[in-house]
Amino acid sequence: MLNVVIMVSGGGTNLQAIIDAVENGSITNARLAGVIASNPDAYALKRAEKYGIPSTVVSRKAISDADAFDHAVLAALEQYQADLVVLAGYLSILGKKVTDAYAYRMINIHPSLIPSFCGPGYYGLRVHEAALGYGVRVTGATVHFVNEEADAGAIILQKPVAVEESDTPETLQRRVMEQAEWEILPKAIDLFCNGKITVSGNKVHITV
Ligand code: GRF
Repeated sequence: MLNVVIMVSGGGTNLQAIIDAVENGSITNARLAGVIASNPDAYALKRAEKYGIPSTVVSRKAISDADAFDHAVLAALEQYQADLVVLAGYLSILGKKVTDAYAYRMINIHPSLIPSFCGPGYYGLRVHEAALGYGVRVTGATVHFVNEEADAGAIILQKPVAVEESDTPETLQRRVMEQAEWEILPKAIDLFCNGKITVSGNKVHITV
């Protein structure tokens, strides 16, 4: 049973998808050991509480020094004895000290098909505004390992989602969450927790 720690910043719909997947058995060999929020008002904290998952707030606003923030995040992760860290709508920047400590044990969900519409400044609705602005016909979501560069780690899973003529950033965001994020993030966690993900030369291999 691996200890999975989920890091959140907002509504926590990805956290909810993970909770539901553990409940319905599509994630096995995983214990949701803790939730770490970057702000005290994240609704994701209410979802954690409802399900009985312990939580901690490590607020970037409250800890102005980046190094001190990294140490506080590392302390929280150690407290939960994290085997796998999942960034689920997490918006704070994690320093190299953190990403090195959890190399190939930290994953992130990004709401586009990386390498499109990713990197610094691409988060939340901005990703979908950029996709609509470019006029792509297909977008989607990506689960990748986290390294010190934003959205640049080895790709684990991706799922495409068609863009519709009538889409606004909001309708596109919702469909990408429903049809892609909430499916591939739990799937990636289950694969990791069951030893089905290996990496060689920054390329991910999945044994089915
Ligand atoms: C959404 O923009 C989602 O696409 C991205 O993080 C944001 C909030 O996710 N992954 P959540 O509802 O807090 O999981």
